[in-house]
Amino acid sequence: MVSSSKRLVQVLNKEEVDRPPIWLMRQAGRYLPEYRKIRAGAGTFLDLCYNPGLAAEVTLQPLRRFPLDAAIVFSDILVIPDALGQAVAFKEGVGPVLEPISSEQELSALTIAHQADHLAPVYETLGHVKKDLPDEVTLIGFSGAPWTIATYMVGGGGSRDYAATKGWAFGSPDTFQGLVTLLEESISRHLIAQVEAGADVLQIFDSWAGMLPDGAFETWCAEPIGRIVSRIKDAVPEVPIIVFPRLAGARYEAFVQMEGVAAVSLDQTVSRRWAVDHLQPHLTLQGNLDPVYLVGGGQSLQTEAEKILQTFANGPFIFNLGHGVMQTTPPEHVAELCEFVIGWTPGAAKS
Ligand code: CP3
Repeated sequence: MVSSSKRLVQVLNKEEVDRPPIWLMRQAGRYLPEYRKIRAGAGTFLDLCYNPGLAAEVTLQPLRRFPLDAAIVFSDILVIPDALGQAVAFKEGVGPVLEPISSEQELSALTIAHQADHLAPVYETLGHVKKDLPDEVTLIGFSGAPWTIATYMVGGGGSRDYAATKGWAFGSPDTFQGLVTLLEESISRHLIAQVEAGADVLQIFDSWAGMLPDGAFETWCAEPIGRIVSRIKDAVPEVPIIVFPRLAGARYEAFVQMEGVAAVSLDQTVSRRWAVDHLQPHLTLQGNLDPVYLVGGGQSLQTEAEKILQTFANGPFIFNLGHGVMQTTPPEHVAELCEFVIGWTPGAAKS
C-alpha cells in the first residue's frame, strides 16, 4: 500500500502520525453565518443538497475558517429514501417529514432504478470539492445505515420511541428484511459511487443503533453494516471505512472483528478507558467530545479535550465529537479546539 499524504488516511491505515487528525461531524451547517446566508438563498434544504456548486461551497466553508484535516461532503442521510421514490421534505422547526411506509405493498412502490441519476449531483459535488482541496486534506463520503434510515422511512420522520419501525422489525422480520435488503443495495451503491467520485474515506452513520434491544442489534445494525462493508471492499478495496453505531455501548465490540472496518466513531457516553482496552487494540478510534463542551468553550472545553487526548492519543485516534456540532456553537470555539488539538503534545498538560 502506498502511503497517503493525508494524515486522516494514515491514521485509518494505522500508520504513525505527528499528531491526531481532527474533523467534526456536522462541521458545515447552521452555526456558521456563511452557511445560513447560502441556505437562505438556495430554496429547500434538499435543493441545497442537490446543487453541486452550492453544496461544494458549503462543504468547503469550515475548511476556510479552521485547520481541519477532513472535509465531509455536504448532503444528508435522507437522500437515500428520496432517491428510492419516497418523497422527503425538511420542515422548518420540525425536521424531516416522509410519507411513512409500513407494509410490503408500500415497499414495492420503491425502486432503485433512478438512484444513480437522482444522486448524480452528490457525486458532482464530490468532484468539485476534490479539485479545491489541498493534498493533505481528506475528503469523506457518507451514508446512513439501514436501521437509522429505516426509522425515518417507517416512522415518517424523527421518532421518540421507534415503535413503528421496531413493531415492523419485531413482528414481521421477513418483510422488514425486504426493506433492509433494498437499503443495503442502495447504500452500497451510493457509497461506492462516492469513492469513484473522489471520496478518500467513508463514514456510515447509524445514529439510532443504540435503540435496538439485544439480538435485534446484531440483526438490524451490525449484520447489515457488515454486508455493506463487504460489498464496498469488493468494489473499492483501498477505501478506509468508519462506522458510527451511536449509543451502542459495549456493543461497539461487534465491529472489532468485522473485516474491512478501519475505525469506529465513539459517542460521548462510551467509557473511554473501556474503549482503549477493548477496541483500540483492534481498530482506530474517533470521537468523543460531548458537543455541549464546544458550545461553552473556554477552560472546560480545553480540560475535556486534554482528557480525551491523554486517553486516546497513545494509539490510532481521530479527534471528533460524540455527535454533530450544535447550532448554538460559537464558531470561535471550533477555532479554539482546533488550535488546542493541533498544538497538543503528550505530557504538556497544565496541572
Ligand atoms: O457533517 C456534515 O457537515 C455533513 C452534512 C450532514 C448533514 N446531515 C447536513 C444537515 C451529515 C453527515 C448529516 C447526517 C445526518 N442527517 C444524520 C446522521 C448524524 C446525526 O446527526 O445523527 C441524521 C440522523 C440526519 C437526518 C437529519 N438531517 C435530521 C434529523 C435533520 C433535521 C435536524 C436539524 O438539525 O435540523 C437534518 C437536516 C440537516 N442535515 C441539516 C444539515 C446542515 C440542517 C438543515 C438546514 O440547514 O435547514
